[in-house]
Amino acid sequence: MKFKRRDFIETASLAAATLAIAPGFAFGKNSAGSKFRLGFIGVGLRGTWHLENSLKRDDVEVVALCDTNPVRLDICRQHIAEAGRKKAREFGSDDFDYRNLLDLSGLDAVIISTPWLWHTPMAVDAMKAGKYAGVEVSAATTLEECWDLVNTHEATGTHMMILENVNYRRDVMAVLNMVRQEVFGEMIHYRCGYQHDLRHVKFNNGKQPYGGGVEFGEKAMSEARWRTQHSLKRNADLYPTHGVGPIAAYADINRGNRFMSLTSHATKSRGLHDYLVREGGPDHPNAKLEWKLGDVVTTTIDTANGETIIVTHDTNLPRPYSLGFRVQGIRGLWEVDGNRIYVEGESEPHKWDDADAWLKKYDHPLWQKFGDHAEGAGHGGMDFFVLNAFVESAKRNIPPPMDAYDAAAWSAITPLSETSIANNGEVQDFPDFTRARWINRKPYDWIKDTW
Ligand SMILES: NC(=O)c1ccc[n+]([C@@H]2O[C@H](COP(=O)([O-])OP(=O)(O)OC[C@H]3O[C@@H](n4cnc5c(N)ncnc54)[C@H](O)[C@@H]3O)[C@@H](O)[C@H]2O)c1
Repeated sequence: MKFKRRDFIETASLAAATLAIAPGFAFGKNSAGSKFRLGFIGVGLRGTWHLENSLKRDDVEVVALCDTNPVRLDICRQHIAEAGRKKAREFGSDDFDYRNLLDLSGLDAVIISTPWLWHTPMAVDAMKAGKYAGVEVSAATTLEECWDLVNTHEATGTHMMILENVNYRRDVMAVLNMVRQEVFGEMIHYRCGYQHDLRHVKFNNGKQPYGGGVEFGEKAMSEARWRTQHSLKRNADLYPTHGVGPIAAYADINRGNRFMSLTSHATKSRGLHDYLVREGGPDHPNAKLEWKLGDVVTTTIDTANGETIIVTHDTNLPRPYSLGFRVQGIRGLWEVDGNRIYVEGESEPHKWDDADAWLKKYDHPLWQKFGDHAEGAGHGGMDFFVLNAFVESAKRNIPPPMDAYDAAAWSAITPLSETSIANNGEVQDFPDFTRARWINRKPYDWIKDTW
């Protein structure tokens, strides 16, 4: 099934209202009925997913691709041909060829799915070029980069969206609906994290993206080429946004609330060394390396409204995947592990309910409307919704659900946790990226069936 433009006709009046007030509206010059023109910077595994989902949309034309690896361009060229679409312009002759893509006049927006160290420089260049920017997670790796995103957005008036797909997971959105309807009462405490055994992602044999060897860097493929070095060099929560993005939506972070400070602690580092010795042998050069990243990094964030958020980063040890959500108010709570909910006055006292019936009852309107279509889009459907929110926001040139301030505040957890860990858990204050505008910024309207 193709995603038709007419599915969005009902949003037209809202869009029209928004366009009337949107400064610097960029797409009005397109002739009526013309498609939204999208470019891709970085078409590795993730960028190719976004490309494939974009090719399913009738309202999007893929006009340009950039990747420094020609093999990835070949793969994407094939996807475009198979979809019966026009050939896209191609870039990638060197690391900065993406700037030539950004110079294209017939381009409205870009999706950036490159290694982490490229996210901010590319997003900044995209905003400077007037292209609405979608940036994969995390968006920034230092506090300076977090400010670069905010400052560039404010200086150019161009929007950026952090493409946090977990905010669109079905259970996460149902719980958001419950939080908004105050089923749990006033919110008190949250837990979340990235608890994912990435050992087979951090190391491979250079021929396949996952496992089969213990190489990383130049000798490896996909994420092991660049992601693993961060575990070698940094002791921090390296990947906070899958956990903290949904919690930030529940807690209205940057919209009436904000992250104030954090403290962070790390365990010793054993998991990667143990894996390398067992898989590659004690004499393999990688078995002699000292990894900086503690196996379990635990961060506690304080919010302006008096909640706490415990964020866990756990990627070096054997374990089943879990983002570890716990969402707790004065009347009850949801825990994703165990799939259970307790609501005072509704649940049998002191006994958990299976979460399924609650999640069904509060199924988010977006999922009710587009769920069947979304299921095929990858990552259980949430990739469809995050792309949809990006395209629909960018088409109208309106602020996205997850903007430069969110990208900065969420990504700041990495450098702040690193400093805290290095200083024996010393409290680190979050910069106020909104420059006090969080006080008046209205909560984002998440509960709607458009995007
Ligand atoms: N939201 C999610 O669920 C999710 C899932 C996977 C990955 N990601 C994120 O997506 C990003 C990409 O991850 P991936 O798995 O696709 O990695 P990948 O290594 O498979 O792809 C990255 C691509 O960027 C290209 N690249 C590197 N430098 C470039 C440059 N200067 N110009 C143009 N292209 C360049 C590489 O050649 C490669 O093809 C990462 O930030 C990752 O954290 C998010």
